[in-house]
Amino acid sequence: MAFPTDRPRRLRINPSVRSLVRENRLSPAQLILPLFVTHGTGKTEPIPSMPDVFRHSVDRLPRIVGEAMASGIKSVILFGIPETKDEAGTSALDPEGPVPVAVRMLKKDFPGLVVMTDVCIDEYTTHGHCGLVRDNRVDNDSTLECLSGMALVHAQAGADIVAPSDMMDGRVQAIRKRLDQKGFQDTLILSYAVKYASSFYGPFRDAMMSGPRFGDRSSYQMDPANRREAFREAALDIEEGADILMVKPALPYLDILRDLADRHDLPLCAYQVSGEYSTLMAAGKEGWIDIDRAILETLTSIRRAGASMIITYFAIRAARLLAQADQT
Ligand code: PBG
Repeated sequence: MAFPTDRPRRLRINPSVRSLVRENRLSPAQLILPLFVTHGTGKTEPIPSMPDVFRHSVDRLPRIVGEAMASGIKSVILFGIPETKDEAGTSALDPEGPVPVAVRMLKKDFPGLVVMTDVCIDEYTTHGHCGLVRDNRVDNDSTLECLSGMALVHAQAGADIVAPSDMMDGRVQAIRKRLDQKGFQDTLILSYAVKYASSFYGPFRDAMMSGPRFGDRSSYQMDPANRREAFREAALDIEEGADILMVKPALPYLDILRDLADRHDLPLCAYQVSGEYSTLMAAGKEGWIDIDRAILETLTSIRRAGASMIITYFAIRAARLLAQADQT
């Protein structure tokens, strides 16, 4: 070719043309704000490994949720820190626990807000595992009853979407069945279908005080080396009745997101987890990266990989940046 006539650069010169040809956009409506809800009142507790993230008691939630909605965010996902824990995680079934109480309050005070809840018992058990423990092993089948009970309590409180994150086999089906039996056919299930055993959950366990007391989670969370196994996990959850699939963490698994987006037609969610947040925050604080650009760049890459929605601790900050940058 003597003279290049195909010049992609031409499309990048004028900022308005650049915007016109942009292939993927990020909108605050696609971001989901995670909230740690603790028991008691009057609490806003900082989390050392997650700067600018707090544990809130229910009475302190309206302020942050109000801020989120003012910035264009329309969805939250709630994680509970109960007052009491035991071997069987019974406080997960308490309709007066922090999560059901928060759901009732938010659904009443913030019409239009999509309220999701994390369904998993690790925060409610003394051993910190996501399932019931028998003979020092996590017992899949006996956990299903507990998970479906917890999902029902959240649905009864008014949750729009329940999100099982435990990775027990068969839990989507167990939850769907229980919800349908009790008249909650319209409550959606967002399944943490593909959840890897990741080092990036470290700060979250700090936040929730929920690290396993013995062993680790590799008997129920996925091996980071596996790709095809993700297809099986996703296919099973779809068969069992999941409405939305999730991949977690996000950035180290963008290839898996892309694979699932190409293979399945369910909406896809990605979770930019605590360790992804804290790593960026730490580097930003040191001045090693431009944190604001990094936030939008990572979130955009997750969208480009195929996620239609993203759970991120940067939700409010990102939404404000988007408004400033006029990028939406
Ligand atoms: C389990 C759960 C975890 C996260 C969300 N749900 C922790 C785990 O599996 O150890 C991690 C989220 C994050 O790191 O931000 N209930």
